[in-house]
Amino acid sequence: MRGLKGKTGIVAGGGRGIGAATARRLADEGAQVVIGDIMAEWAKETAAAIREHGGKAIGVALDGTSAASQAAIVQAALDEFGGLDFYHSNLAGGTEGDIDILNCSEEVLDRSFAINAKSHFLATQAALPVLIERGGGAMIYTSSGAAISGNPLQVAYPMTKNALHALVRHVARKFGKQGIRANGICPGVVLTEAVAQHLTQEYVDSMLATLPHRRLGQPDDIAGAIAFLASDDGVWVNGQLWHVNGGSLLRD
Ligand SMILES: NC(=O)c1ccc[n+]([C@@H]2O[C@H](COP(=O)([O-])OP(=O)(O)OC[C@H]3O[C@@H](n4cnc5c(N)ncnc54)[C@H](O)[C@@H]3O)[C@@H](O)[C@H]2O)c1
Repeated sequence: MRGLKGKTGIVAGGGRGIGAATARRLADEGAQVVIGDIMAEWAKETAAAIREHGGKAIGVALDGTSAASQAAIVQAALDEFGGLDFYHSNLAGGTEGDIDILNCSEEVLDRSFAINAKSHFLATQAALPVLIERGGGAMIYTSSGAAISGNPLQVAYPMTKNALHALVRHVARKFGKQGIRANGICPGVVLTEAVAQHLTQEYVDSMLATLPHRRLGQPDDIAGAIAFLASDDGVWVNGQLWHVNGGSLLRD
């Protein structure tokens, strides 16, 4: 992809899963990557593996729900690599107890909003001034097909992902003229560690039966789309929420 070599990006929630795959892909494309995760060891291990393969990456502790921690990871990019060109805000969590509206507690709702919506707000507040000062850059967020599919089994998580869509559109409209692009990727079912542990073969088979594709997603499928949005090949993409899902959620 064009324009990733020598650029610097943050991957928040990059210790494992889609974030780790994205960090590896970005490094393969020649970018310098700062990986942040609440599981600091995972972030450091992912970064070490990238360095062993000749890439440039560091891993740092990040609590995405803390403004101070978000400011610190942006500063880490400036200190280590001398700038920041894009921020992939990918982290998610706190979905335990997130069930239907009549059975989901207020506490679970608040936790889900803190991790899955407020973290992206804080990431944007921390990164945007630096990107604008540099003359432009990309904010890329990981949303979910759950934002639009209508899920009878979960209420809070899809609400937070819709809040994220509002953020994407706000940033795109407000800062586009200053060289900022804001986009989101909405994955379908991707076989990360977090997801695979909950899936039975029966459930996989039932999903595959209706998916117009031969297989479910892999983290690298999402990483490629995010790398595109961070690259110069994606420079005219702004304010979009792209479904990368093997063809599920097709509209008539
Ligand atoms: N895997 C899927 O099928 C799927 C589908 C749709 C959307 N998504 C989205 O993709 C993204 C990645 O999903 P994944 O499957 O790789 O999940 P994952 O759980 O493997 O990755 C999420 C990462 O975020 C980190 N994290 C959680 N809370 C944090 C916090 N407060 N601060 C910093 N880091 C924190 C976790 O430690 C973890 O490393 C998420 O936004 C998720 O909602 C995934």
